[in-house]
Amino acid sequence: MSTLIQLRNVSKIYHTAAGEVRALDGVTLDIDHGEFVAIVGQSGSGKSTLMNILGCLDLPSRGVYRLSGRNMSRCSSITQAHVRGKEIGFVFQGFHLIPSLSALENVELPLIYRGIGREERRHRAKESLRRVGLSQRMDHRPCELSGGQQQRVAIARAIAMAPPLILADEPTGNLDTTSGGEVMKMLHELNGEGHTVVLITHDSVIAKSAKRRICISDGRVSY
Ligand SMILES: Nc1ncnc2c1ncn2[C@@H]1O[C@H](COP(=O)(O)OP(=O)(O)OP(=O)(O)O)[C@@H](O)[C@H]1O
Ligand SMILES: [Mg+2]
Repeated sequence: MSTLIQLRNVSKIYHTAAGEVRALDGVTLDIDHGEFVAIVGQSGSGKSTLMNILGCLDLPSRGVYRLSGRNMSRCSSITQAHVRGKEIGFVFQGFHLIPSLSALENVELPLIYRGIGREERRHRAKESLRRVGLSQRMDHRPCELSGGQQQRVAIARAIAMAPPLILADEPTGNLDTTSGGEVMKMLHELNGEGHTVVLITHDSVIAKSAKRRICISDGRVSY
């Protein structure tokens, strides 16, 4: 399998009024295309910091991050946004749906930003919602959907551009066991279809379902 994510000696230092915080400390890591990886670690260990770098939402202070061979370590925020839109689908604990928009419109929104025409946008958004089993709920607004259904809308939004990488930060954190199980099943199915999935979780049962677990502690990776 070929390498999708390559981190070499990546550190992230936050400068605060109270001093420096070394949130990541020399992380070296490869993730191949097609992997399903869980990132686990205690609160404050650096998981979200790592996720922000992998998701091109932040830059490392030191070291090199390559995504699909492209060096993302020093690039502009415009390049970061471009790569995010094309290569990465995000799923967050709090769903991050827009309350005033229907499920269909929520899924369409990033496609508008990507400059995709109306017809194709509709088609892709409907197909993604069908994919997550929500064909019957496309015109519902988030408040008219259950938590599990809202997270499936967020997954539909994440996969609408068919990104190679899905980054999920505690995607089951706000869900009951059954809905959480459905979301995990969906992420595994998407992985089976070729998406690389990187999942942050506190839940050891959920982490066990991943093919590979990466443990992070005090900003360092331990296997
Ligand atoms: N913007 C910031 N400025 C300063 N320090 C930060 C910032 N973001 C995170 N930190 C610090 O960096 C360390 C790692 O934080 P991070 O959010 O990555 O942890 P986490 O593993 O995601 O924790 P949790 O499980 O609680 O979400 C912590 O010590 C935190 O206080
Ligand atoms: Mg976090």
